[in-house]
This record gives sequence, C-alpha cells and structure tokens, in this order.
Amino acid sequence: MCGIVGCFAESGCYEKLMAALVNLEYRGYDSAGVALAGEKGIAVRKKKGAVRNLFGQPLAGTAGIGHTRWATHGKPSDENAHPHTAGKFALVHNGIIENYAALRAELSARGETFSSETDSEVIVKLIAALYSGDFFAAVAAACARLKGSYAVAVLCADHPREIVCAAYKSPLVAGAGKGAVYVCSDVPALFGAVSYVCPAEDGEFLHVCGSEIVFRRADGTPVPKVFCRTEEEGGARRQGGGSYMEAEIAQIPQGISRTLACLRGCDFAPAARVLRAAGRVFTAACGTAHHAALAFGHLLSQEARIPVLCEAASEFRYGDPLIGAGDVLVAVSQSGETADTLEAVRLAKQRGAFVIAVCNAPLSTLSRLADLLLQTCAGAEVAVAATKSYNCQLLCLYYLAAQAVFFKTTRFPAWFFALEGAARACGQALESAAAAERLARRLQGARAMYFIGRGADRFTAAEGALKVREIAYVFAESCPAGELKHGTLALVEEGFPVFAVATARALLQKTVNSLAEARARGARPVLFTQYGAEAAGCGAELFPPLPSLPEPLMPLVSVIPLQWFACHFCLLRGFDPDRPRNLAKSVTVE
Ligand code: F6R
Repeated sequence: MCGIVGCFAESGCYEKLMAALVNLEYRGYDSAGVALAGEKGIAVRKKKGAVRNLFGQPLAGTAGIGHTRWATHGKPSDENAHPHTAGKFALVHNGIIENYAALRAELSARGETFSSETDSEVIVKLIAALYSGDFFAAVAAACARLKGSYAVAVLCADHPREIVCAAYKSPLVAGAGKGAVYVCSDVPALFGAVSYVCPAEDGEFLHVCGSEIVFRRADGTPVPKVFCRTEEEGGARRQGGGSYMEAEIAQIPQGISRTLACLRGCDFAPAARVLRAAGRVFTAACGTAHHAALAFGHLLSQEARIPVLCEAASEFRYGDPLIGAGDVLVAVSQSGETADTLEAVRLAKQRGAFVIAVCNAPLSTLSRLADLLLQTCAGAEVAVAATKSYNCQLLCLYYLAAQAVFFKTTRFPAWFFALEGAARACGQALESAAAAERLARRLQGARAMYFIGRGADRFTAAEGALKVREIAYVFAESCPAGELKHGTLALVEEGFPVFAVATARALLQKTVNSLAEARARGARPVLFTQYGAEAAGCGAELFPPLPSLPEPLMPLVSVIPLQWFACHFCLLRGFDPDRPRNLAKSVTVE
C-alpha cells in the first residue's frame, strides 16, 4: 500500500530511483512521482497512473525520493500524487495520518493553502512551518504531532545531499549498495541494487547524509545498527510477455522445495512445546493467508485434537479475543507488513501469548515481532494476487501441525513423511494449466460463480473464489458444500458455474450430492478431485484428476488448478492479473 523510496548516489540518482520505483509498483499503481534535490532547488515530476508515465528527461540531483500510490485520501490524480511540496521541502508518505483534518484546519487558519486532498500534504506543510534551518529537527518535530501510521522520506532544498526519513507503524528499510544508498518500503524492490539492508523500528528516523545512513532517535542521537546481507532468492522472472502471476504459479514446486529445506533446519521444539501445552491456539491473518490459517486450524484440531480459533486479523484486533498467557497465536502473512495482522500480534503479545509467525519476509515487522519465525521461502512475490506464497504457507503450517502431533503423541502422523513428495505433486498439478485455460474459455461469459467444498476443501474453495473476484472481476462466492441449500442455491440458474473441490474420499459422495442439487436447478457443475473414477457419471464435468497426496495434504495441490483458472479467466477477459484494480500488495493500512 504505497511504496516510498529514497536514494543518494553521486551519479545516476534519477535512474536508480526510477528502477527502484518500477520494482515497488506492486504496492500501488494509482499514481507515481519523484523529486530530486539539485543545485537549483527541488525538481518534481508526478503523474496519475503507472510509473512509466514518469519516464522522460532525467531530473538532476544526487538525492531523490519517489512514490507509488494506492489512494486512501483523495482520488488518483496528478494533484494527489506524491511527492507533496511546501516551501523548501518535498515529501513522500506511506500510511494514514488520522489527525490530518485537525492539522489541516490548524495550518489553514495560519494561511496555508493545500493543493491536494491527501492526508500526506499536511506533513510537509507542518515540516515547512516548523523549519528554522535544522532539517532533521523540523521533520522530528512534525512527526511528534502526527497520529496514525507513517513512513516518510523528505528532501530539503537547503540540504541537497540529505534525505530525512521517519517510520512509525509503516515499514521502512535502509539499504547500502555499490555507489548508492537507499531507503525503501520493501527489501525486494532493492534486490540487485543493494547488498546490505537494515529495517527501521517504530519511532526511528533515518538520516541519509551523502552516502552515509544514520539511524536516529527523535532527539537526533544515533542508534547503533547492524546491516545484514541480502540477496535475491526465488524471485520470478516473467516469461516473454507473460505475467508475474503465471511465473509465480509455475514456481510453486521450487518454493515448496526451498521451504521444506528451510523447515528441516528449524528447531521446532519451542513451538511444538508451547502448542502442545497451549490452553488455546488462535490464528490471525488476512485474505489468502487467512485461508491458509483456516486449513491449518482444521488440520491441527483434527490431528492433534487441539482446539483452534481462526479469526480474520481485522476482527481479532477489535474482538477482545480471549487470548492470554499460555495461549499461542499463529500469525500468517506473506509480506509480514499487513497492518491488521501486526495489530493482532501486538495485542496477543501484550496479553502474554506466544506468537509464531509464518512469513515470507524475514526482515519484516511480523518476523521481528514474533517469538518464533517459520519462514516460507517462496521467493519475492510480485503479482498482487498471492499464489506461491499460499502453497508455501500451507506447507509450513502442516509441518508445524505434524510437529505438534509428534510432541503430543511421540509419533509423526503418516502424512508427514509424504511432505517430501509435495514439490513433485505440485509440479504435476501445474500440468493442469491447459485444462484450466480451456475451462476458462468455456466459461468466459459467466457473470457469477460458486465454489464449494467440505472439510479442508471449503478453504481451497474460498481461495479459488477470492482469486476469481480479485483478478477477473467476476462475482465468485464460496460456501461449505452442505450450506448451499440453506440459501445460496437460490441464485443458481441456467448455466451458473459451480466448482466443487472434493479431495476427501469419505466426503466425496456428499459433495457430489450437493452438485446434483445445483445441477437440478440448471447449474453447470465442475468437480476437482483425485477420485474421478469414483465420481464418473455424477453429472458434473470432471476436471482432469488432481495428483494424489495423502488427503490431509491435498490442499497443497488442489488449489493449483483454481489458481490457473483464475489467471486464465482474467487474461481471457482482458485484464492484467498482476495489477488488479483497486488493490495493491502489502496492506500496510487498516
Ligand atoms: C489475495 C491476497 C491478499 C493477501 C492479504 C494478506 O490474493 O494477496 O488477500 O493474502 O492481503 O497479505 P499478507 O499475506 O501479506 O499479510
């Protein structure tokens, strides 16, 4: 949700800034802008739409800032694009300033005028109003007046070789590379440009002075920091003119292999001990990560007989959950920066719970907050719609569940050993791409669809429906198969697609019955199962058989044809799967 970047480089600062901004675009693509501080003051270029709209004559200067926007306050427009300026200052911001209306009124009463509808513009106006020659002090004093969340990077015309940044509940990392130093919302945007990175903690400031980066407290005192080495691992490359989403789905087997290798080296004893002894286990996550958490909750309660309460993080944080000392919260997040998930974690920690994070970004806020980190090694995920990270989250969570079973019973469940074959099975599931495309072609005109399943399959169904809504803009709803007849069935009419996932043999016939009820009302049912032979003649279209894994592990592979389907459905409908409208990756605002 909005990406900010700052760069100091003696040469090629503009080009370096633009390259980072292009990499950062998945965080928002409503508008983009850059500013560079040069001999003649600060030059700004900003435009509605994609970063490519900024391409043109390089702006001069050795220090610059850039922004890619996901609109919160004010529509996407040139005026609302960042950087915002006031007097000698230019600023980019990610976050939400909750007291911006009061600050705006105060500044307006002093004669300030505003040229945007954003909350961000008040910050730069405030900095300009508080400035009396000390750049850092003005930014620190302005930040002291802000309520909400922010990562900001600020330029001052009087100090053209400096950038002052601040972070509070919005991510910001410093990076050092050959010939340039950076500040940025995200590490992956700097892959290739930096070798060392260091994240800022809440309330810290980053002061770029030439090629030096100093972390400071608000009073200016330096904070000692250790930078750690970073290198890109597992990022997807688009094939030809293809999308990141296609490339990332195709990478699932590699992500699974890397994650498994990482899990094998993990000491599970602390996690498994707390899980076994836990009074209660909670999960908190959002969107796709929540679907992975739901599948985990189902498996853990089935296999380890431990009760698990799975909550959307946005509900957990405001729901006064019963969590306390002796309980465990499992927080799942690809980015590790999702605001609702982080707040759920902070609440759980305040109340004394043990926090296990399943996260794809080891330097993220979530990874740093957790008592124990299980890293998904999916590699950087660029497409806004999560795919490979979901499969890797499931793998991590299943591994964790198996460890909990082991610590409870001194035996691993039989399916645990089949995790070794998960990457191969995912590879086989990838072969469903062509069938998924044909299905998408046949259903191209569909205006709504349902996804159903029982047991763990209902979470796969929910994930399939989310993908279709998110990138193909078709109304897609999921429900437990048995719930269909309790209301949802009313919307089924002639030709209405109903996708069923059925990977548990014991429940296959029940799900087939639900499809028959839908078919009797004109639905066009499609069944995804590894037990095709047993369902032959059931009246539903049988999707090519899913590869076979032990049933508890089937969600790892059964989601893949649905991911392919959504991707092809989106492409056939003429949309870009990487940049769904209204959305962005890494939801750092509430
Ligand atoms: C859907 C999607 C989102 C994210 C959600 C949580 O395709 O990508 O639903 O899963 O915003 O994001 P993370 O996992 O970064 O916390």
